[in-house]
Amino acid sequence: MKRDLLLILLGLMIVVFNVKAQNWSDQEIEAKIDEIIPKLTLREKVDLCHAQSKFSTAGVERLGIPELWMADGPHGVRAEISWDSWNYAGWTNDSITAFPALTCLAATFNEKLAYQFGKALGEEARYRKKDVILGPGVNIYRTPLNGRNFEYMGEDPHLASKLCVPYIHGVQENGVAACIKHYVLNNQELWRDHINVEVSDRALYEIYLPAFKAAVQEGGAWSLMGAYNQFRGQYCCHNEILLNDILKDDWGFDGAVITDWGGAHDTKESALYGLDIEMGTGTNGLTFSESNAYQNYFLAAPFYEMLKNGDIPESVVDDKARRILRLMFRTNMAKTRPLGSINTKAHQGVARRVAQEGIVLLKNEGGFFPIDPEKKITIAVIGENATRQMTKGGGSSELKPQFEISPLEGIKERFKNATIIHSMGYASGDPAYGRVLPPPYDLDSLKQAALKVAAKADIVLFFGGLNKNHHQDCEGGDRLQYGLDFGQEELIQEIARVNNNLGVVLVSGNAVATPWLDNTKALIQGWYLGSMAGHAMADIISGDVNPSGKLPFTFPVKLEDNGAHYYGEISYPGDSINQEYLEDILVGYRWHDTRDIAPQFAFGYGLSYTNFIISHITTNGDSFEKEDKLQVSFRVNNEGDTDGAEVVQLYIGKENSSVPRAQKELKGYQKVVVKAGKSTIGSIEINIKDLSYYDENIDDWNLEKGAYTLYIGNSSNHISIKKQFNVR
Ligand code: GLC
Repeated sequence: MKRDLLLILLGLMIVVFNVKAQNWSDQEIEAKIDEIIPKLTLREKVDLCHAQSKFSTAGVERLGIPELWMADGPHGVRAEISWDSWNYAGWTNDSITAFPALTCLAATFNEKLAYQFGKALGEEARYRKKDVILGPGVNIYRTPLNGRNFEYMGEDPHLASKLCVPYIHGVQENGVAACIKHYVLNNQELWRDHINVEVSDRALYEIYLPAFKAAVQEGGAWSLMGAYNQFRGQYCCHNEILLNDILKDDWGFDGAVITDWGGAHDTKESALYGLDIEMGTGTNGLTFSESNAYQNYFLAAPFYEMLKNGDIPESVVDDKARRILRLMFRTNMAKTRPLGSINTKAHQGVARRVAQEGIVLLKNEGGFFPIDPEKKITIAVIGENATRQMTKGGGSSELKPQFEISPLEGIKERFKNATIIHSMGYASGDPAYGRVLPPPYDLDSLKQAALKVAAKADIVLFFGGLNKNHHQDCEGGDRLQYGLDFGQEELIQEIARVNNNLGVVLVSGNAVATPWLDNTKALIQGWYLGSMAGHAMADIISGDVNPSGKLPFTFPVKLEDNGAHYYGEISYPGDSINQEYLEDILVGYRWHDTRDIAPQFAFGYGLSYTNFIISHITTNGDSFEKEDKLQVSFRVNNEGDTDGAEVVQLYIGKENSSVPRAQKELKGYQKVVVKAGKSTIGSIEINIKDLSYYDENIDDWNLEKGAYTLYIGNSSNHISIKKQFNVR
């Protein structure tokens, strides 16, 4: 027996070693690139640097260098797009697993899940023969009106940094490049293609850059996408400060910089200021192109001409070719890479677990949730979002899933003993989208029908929120209001009047106003959950799974309470030409804490079906030097009768700082699973030097000496204990 076990172990080791040995080493890759570049003609080098179709760049057939294929998006592999138009190609073999949107992943505060998410997504991208998956997006959630917040990881740079790294590792294990986006300051959709963002270096380095830096230096991202907007008067897709100075020189990024589609605007700047691959459709804008517009691209014929006549040295295109070939040797020219897989039970399992762990319970009066699935009761399920396909729409992250379980389907399947009655309640009918209600229906008849159903039910579940239509959490436009649309607010109030045993589930990727909150016993933040949405919703609603999600962004009571909306139009949305981030480093909870503005729901907040007590905080000392590590240990007691998970959060603030600072900033967290009635010990370790602020006087990070306060709690405004320590 022992001998057999040893033989098995030996065999496994050979396999693992063999796979590892099979891939090119960095030295081998560089040596191969050194061989190839002298063999390339100038035309072949230039043709590596721009699109040949909507989502591919040319290879060099003469030398056996393949085309490079890219696909959206951050939470699933987008259906095949036509060669030279935004139309779908109509393939019948490109249905995939739709994973939850990244705000949901962020709400899990779970790095292991982030890795599993990336790995599964990478397997599906590999199977679909894509060499670059255009994600993750890590733009900071600055305003609840940004149309694309659902694609990103919330308002805190530490959380976004910690979760994007394992996601990238998971994707790239498959020989597929992640493409961290949109670098940088693309924090709204209105005027995204040109708005010039002015922001202090301090806010740039402390809030907007950290997740990109982590993606490059810890994630090892093989590609990065430039944002559409401008920064200090230069487009981000060819920006000397952002791309040459910070990304490539300071951070040592050795991958390829890809434009957002149509994000290039000048040949010389594209050549000299850090761009490597120009994508888009035509130089006449984002979405239209004449035939063979690709030779008109800034990094195509015009670039070739400037190289040929010596305006630009050939070393410039050689560096681009080197980066692109490096990307290829890591992907479609790797010695070996997995075959990938698609629509597997394993992938569906990852999608379900991320959804389960990301759903956030925000209110639960009188134990409204969970609802006992064995009870023979009547449940009214009301709202368009109970049945609406949410993998559709939203823009470039739109997906064609093999299936999508709606909340209504999930509830019907799990609550077999109950009588489930659905009523639409409202419709996001928008003539612009051809979604008008067929006669004899109109909004009032929908409401009356819903009220009748609600009045007769034992329990009412209202599924509302946003819906990834234009202005409703969608690329290309911001939201036009902070409150819910389509009469939902009035409808919720009227339902409560006929039946106050009401729970609301928001399907959205943004905070919304909740004027109806007092009239509902329970509230769940449900996110865009992908293929397994309905099952995950039912898992939480039935109590099969105890919710553990935490908000990755603040819910302000009203829009004016949000820092981006405090300083008038120039701060949001800007004056259509320029925009100034006047709240500076005080984004999200940083603003609420420091200005003492109570949020509706705080960053890091989320309830459980059990109750946790955080206690026994100890540290490895109370005085530290720059190179030291601070270790904070704590005990978490589960005082209830349900197993669950709590996210213990460590915030740190500087007392009497010499510069303006947020009251406290998230510097660590740990998600701990604790059995009913038991307790567990956890710990968080941070580097003292990570408490530095970005000092514009020295263009570098500066660690202030003196007193600091650590705050341990389970949300940014629910702190269990504070403790002072000193940096000397
Ligand atoms: C879009 C998006 C970007 C996407 C790209 C390709 O405009 O901004 O996120 O990856 O174009 O669809």
